[in-house]
Amino acid sequence: MEERLQKYLARCGVASRRKAEEMIRAGRIKVNGQTVTAMGFTVIPGEDQVEVDGKIVSPPEQPVYLLLNKPTGYVTTARDERGRPTVLELVKNIDVRVYPVGRLDMDTEGLLLLTNDGLLAYKLTHPKHEIEKTYHATVRGIPTRKGLEQLRQGIVLDGRKTAPAKVRILKPGKETLVEVVIHEGRNRQVRRMFAEIGHPVVSLRRIKLAFLDLGELKIGAYRHLTAGEVNRLYRIISKSKA
Ligand code: URA
Repeated sequence: MEERLQKYLARCGVASRRKAEEMIRAGRIKVNGQTVTAMGFTVIPGEDQVEVDGKIVSPPEQPVYLLLNKPTGYVTTARDERGRPTVLELVKNIDVRVYPVGRLDMDTEGLLLLTNDGLLAYKLTHPKHEIEKTYHATVRGIPTRKGLEQLRQGIVLDGRKTAPAKVRILKPGKETLVEVVIHEGRNRQVRRMFAEIGHPVVSLRRIKLAFLDLGELKIGAYRHLTAGEVNRLYRIISKSKA
C-alpha cells in the first residue's frame, strides 16, 4: 500500500509530518537513491528504500509472537545450508521476519515460539531465567528407579552435570512414555540424558514452555499468542533471577 513520503517519515520517527515536508523540500530525502523534493510523492513501505541525510530509515515493526506445533523433519534455523525444510516455511503468510526462540532438533516435534521480539527471545533462552520446558519422551524399555533418580540428580554431559530434572513415568511398556521437565537448553539434552541411563529416546515432543502448552493445535499449525500471554511471559522474565 502506497503511503505519502512525509507520513512514512513521521512513522519512522524521523520528524513530525510538517517537519518532514520541510526536510523533503530541503533535499535531504532520497528514495531508491534519488533525491525527492516534490510534494505528494508516495512510497511503498517494505519495497522502497528511504534515506534521510544518507541514512536508511524504516518504521518500527509490530511485535509478533507465534506458537508453532513443530512437526519432525524441519530444522529450527532461519536457513539451512543443506536445503532441508525450515520451521519458517510453516509460517509463510506472516509478513514480518520472525525467529525461533531456542531450538528443537529436526527429529523433535512440539511447542516452538517464533518472534521478532529479540529482547523476549533472548531472555526466554538465557539460562539464568530457568524457564521450564516440559517434554514427553518415548524411550526404549522401562527406566529403572535408579535411572530416573540419576536424571533427577543430574547427569554429566560434556563434563558438566545437568541441573536437576523433574521426571515421571506416564505409561510403562516395551517403550515407555516419560514426562521430563528441564530448564536448561543444552544440545540434544533430553536425548543424551536418556542415552546415558541406557534408555534411548525413540520420539520426543515438547508439550510446554513455561505456562504455554500446545492445547488443540494440530501438528504443523501455529497461533498468535494473546496479549495476556505475552504480558505473562514478560512478568516471568522480569521476576526471575535476572
Ligand atoms: N532435548 C533434545 O534432546 N532435543 C530437543 O529437541 C529438545 C530437548
